Amino acid sequence: MINIAIDGPSGAGKSTIAKAVAKKKGYIYVDTGALYRSIGLYVYRLGISKEDKEAIKSVLPQISLELGYVEGVQRVYLNKEDVSEEIRMPEISMYASAVSAIQEVRDFLLELQRDMAKKHDVIMDGRDIGTVILPDATVKVFMTATDEGRAKRRYKELCEKGVETTFEEVLSDMIKRDKADSTREIAPAVPAADAVFFDNTEFGIEESVDEIIKIIDNAIAKRG
Ligand code: DC
Repeated sequence: MINIAIDGPSGAGKSTIAKAVAKKKGYIYVDTGALYRSIGLYVYRLGISKEDKEAIKSVLPQISLELGYVEGVQRVYLNKEDVSEEIRMPEISMYASAVSAIQEVRDFLLELQRDMAKKHDVIMDGRDIGTVILPDATVKVFMTATDEGRAKRRYKELCEKGVETTFEEVLSDMIKRDKADSTREIAPAVPAADAVFFDNTEFGIEESVDEIIKIIDNAIAKRG
């Protein structure tokens, strides 16, 4: 199986680029952030504080998550309910980040992610794919862009969805969340030792997609 790991901070264009690469190469795109977001949503709906680790751990047995694909687009089902849209709300981002720092939550999601990679050629986007989930991935890419560049993209996305927010709010939330994700004790969002860095601040989507495909093709050719 071909397993491509794409890690990096939020708004680095991972999902847009990985989705396009998946389409061109015939891989399945797996957005692992959607899994953490779904647990975040569950906790949010119950009114549990995102700091209350014990309460969060105690509700895990009530949660079942499944990934599905509708016309090639990933959907995530939380206890059979399609929550793919709702998990994108900005308040859920912080819940996702908070629950993702809990070891039991990460353990809970481990097999589901590895199972996808075992059964399919995948391009999987997240924070610890190259370091923890798929340490033997065919290729590992760490994708970044400047803070301003990433916040601009995220802001545009949210505006298009009709979410009311400001650029400053998006930028400060993003910096806060990335700091938490990259400095946490468990599975911090850091590049794997053998990751290829790709800063796409100056690249358009098409160019980025071509660049990633080049990196993948090179790695596959080398592997033989
Ligand atoms: O990629 P995203 O913004 O949808 O992810 C939401 C949060 O989930 C992010 O702040 C950190 C966490 N996450 C993680 O810890 N590990 C992953 N593989 C994916 C996401």
